[in-house]
Amino acid sequence: MKTTISNVKKHENETVTIGAWLENKRSSGKIAFLQLRDGTGFMQAVVAKNDVDEEIFQLAKNLHQESSIYITGKIVEDKRSPLGFEMQVTGLELIHEAIDYPITPKEHGTEFLMDHRHLWLRSRRQHAVMKIRNEIIRSTYQFFNQQGFVKIDPPILTASSAEGTTELFHTQYFDEEAYLSQSGQLYMEAAAMAFGKVFSFGPTFRAEKSKTRRHLIEFWMIEPEMAFVDHEESLQIQENYVSYIAKSVLENCQLELATLERDTSKLEQIQAPFPRISYDDAITLLKEKGFTDIDWGDDFGAPHETAIAEHFDKPVFITNYPAEIKAFYMKPVPGREEVVLCADLIAPEGYGEIIGGSQRIDDLELMKERYEEHGLTGDAYKWYLDLQKYGNVPHSGFGLGLERTVAWLSGVDHVRETIPFPRLLNRLYP
Ligand code: 4AD
Ligand code: MG
Repeated sequence: MKTTISNVKKHENETVTIGAWLENKRSSGKIAFLQLRDGTGFMQAVVAKNDVDEEIFQLAKNLHQESSIYITGKIVEDKRSPLGFEMQVTGLELIHEAIDYPITPKEHGTEFLMDHRHLWLRSRRQHAVMKIRNEIIRSTYQFFNQQGFVKIDPPILTASSAEGTTELFHTQYFDEEAYLSQSGQLYMEAAAMAFGKVFSFGPTFRAEKSKTRRHLIEFWMIEPEMAFVDHEESLQIQENYVSYIAKSVLENCQLELATLERDTSKLEQIQAPFPRISYDDAITLLKEKGFTDIDWGDDFGAPHETAIAEHFDKPVFITNYPAEIKAFYMKPVPGREEVVLCADLIAPEGYGEIIGGSQRIDDLELMKERYEEHGLTGDAYKWYLDLQKYGNVPHSGFGLGLERTVAWLSGVDHVRETIPFPRLLNRLYP
C-alpha cells in the first residue's frame, strides 16, 4: 500500500511503499541507514544486508543524495526519532538518480544557498519554516471566517499609491502608467462599505532600498478592514488574531518548532491582551533608557523598537503616532490633531513591527485637506473620495506582514528564509 511519511503512524507493523528522495545516508558493512524525505516529512529507513536481496542492498549503499525512489518496508516504532517511527526496508526501486547535488550536508554560505533557493527549499529547516508559514495562512483564514469576515481580493495593478509615492514599482499599462500594489487598503475600505468586515491576503511590493533582516521587496500582507469598528475595537481584534495564530502554530507545528529549536515558552506568552504604550510615553521611555538620538516627531528605528519591546514580555502596541510621520488616511485623535488613532504592533525578541493599523478618516473636508497636503491630485484618487461622500462610517483596519510574523514565530533571523523565493534589493534569482 502506498502512503506518505506524515501518515506512517497509521501503519505501524504494516508493510507500505513511499515515494521519496534520499536526504542523506550512512552505511557500514551490513547495514545502511537512509534518511528519507517525501515532502510531508522526514524519516529513517534501515536496510539490513541479511533481510534483502544483494542487489537491493548494493542499490541502497550506493544511492546518491536527492535520488528519487520508491521504498517498501515495515513501519516500526522508533522512540529516538522525532517522528516516532522508522522503516525496515524490504524493497527499493530507483526512479531517478541524482548526481552531484550541490547542497551537501556540509556548511554552505548564505549567498550560495540563496543562489540555490530552488533546491534549498528541500532542506529540513526550510521545510519547517514553510510549514509554519502555511499554518499561519491556514489559521488566518480560519480566524477571519469564524469572525464573519469576507475574503476580498484587491487588485495588484493600480493607478494610485496607498503608502506614499517614494517606494512605488512603476510599470506600463498599455498607454498609461501603473504601479504594483503597496497595500490593498484603499480598495479594502471600499469593500468594507459593501461587506462590513473584510480581509485580504496577497502580495505587496515596495521599491524600498532597505537591506535589513526585516525588509523584502515583495512581501505578503493580511489586511482586514472593518466598518463600524473604532480604533480600540480594532486593537482587540488584532491581539486576538495574533494570539490565535501563535496558538495554532504551537498546537499544529510541534515537529517543525523542534526542528528549528524554537524556544516555545516564548510563544506561549503570546496571549491577549497585549500591553499598549503611547508614542509620547515611548519617547520618554527611550530617553530614560539613554537614547539621546530621538525626539518627539521622529520615527523609530529598529534599535528603538527593540528597546521598547524588551521592556515588555509580550508583543506591544505603540499607539497615537504624530500625524506627520504616518499615512494620509489616518484619523486624528479628537482634541489632539497632531497625533493619529493608529498603532504599530511590535514583536518581542527584536522582530520589529508586525502590524501597522489605524482608524481611518471619516470626514470629506478633512480628507480633501489631506489630499492637498499629500499632492494626491490625479484622477486615480477620485473614487476614494466617493467613500467619504456616500454613507461614510467610522472604520478601522490593519495590515499584518506575513514574512515578519513567520520569522518571529519560527525564530529565524532573516525574512529571506520565510518566503519561498525572496525578492531582495540585490536578488531576483532564482
Ligand atoms: O505599516 P505598513 O506599511 O501598513 C500598510 O501598508 C497599511 N496600509 C496596512 C493597513 O492598514 N491595511 O505595512 C504593514 C505591515 C508592517 O507592519 C510589516 O509587518 C509589513 O507590513 N511590511 C513589510 N514586510 C516585509 N518587508 C517590507 N518591506 C515591509 N513593509 C511593511
Ligand atoms: Mg508601518
